[in-house]
Amino acid sequence: MANQQTDRPPLRLGILLSGRGSNMIAIAKAIREGRLKGVEIAIVISNVANVCGLAVTRELDLPSAIFVSKGRSRAEHDADVIACLQEHKVDLVCLAGYMRLLSPAFVTAFPQRILNIHPALLPAFPGLDAQQQAWDYGVKVAGCTVHFVDEHLDHGPIVVQRTVPVLDTDDAHALADRILAEEHIAYSEAIARVASGEYEFQGRRYVKRG
Ligand code: GRF
Repeated sequence: MANQQTDRPPLRLGILLSGRGSNMIAIAKAIREGRLKGVEIAIVISNVANVCGLAVTRELDLPSAIFVSKGRSRAEHDADVIACLQEHKVDLVCLAGYMRLLSPAFVTAFPQRILNIHPALLPAFPGLDAQQQAWDYGVKVAGCTVHFVDEHLDHGPIVVQRTVPVLDTDDAHALADRILAEEHIAYSEAIARVASGEYEFQGRRYVKRG
């Protein structure tokens, strides 16, 4: 559906996942329930076969594709994924639990057009098991970050962050669940900011135009 406020064509999303797919589901629900306007899902791509996220994609009647990455070089695999995204005229790539580093060619193919969600308040705790890292460190506030992807891991300009308290009664799993609930809000907020056309880069900062 066109963006009613701007009459621009909808921003076409390509969502990449490797597993559960709860962030993809949250984005799809936000679009269907009219909470995320001017956006549509063009394609969901998984690099792993038979994952829950793909099954749900089909239940939701969304277009999907699988490019199994195991045993292939990054360059070869990424070339297929890039071609598929371009074929589906994707404007914005959303990494949602995509457990694979992107090649430089991938980042170059979609300059400032790839978002990632990370379950920590970057720049703290980049990399794997971020919630466990935060728990082990003993932070009192944790959260999630949606950021643009650049050539470094968990590094590009931040679009949205949401915080949660860390309770004395938590364990790492309880904390991860609390963060995940905020991830499901944060990703749609971040996409809405990009779709609005009202934000610009000022160095690393992604801010509303003055
Ligand atoms: C999320 O915690 C996300 O932050 C991280 O991987 C997890 C994916 O979860 N990058 P899901 O597949 O979206 O449920």
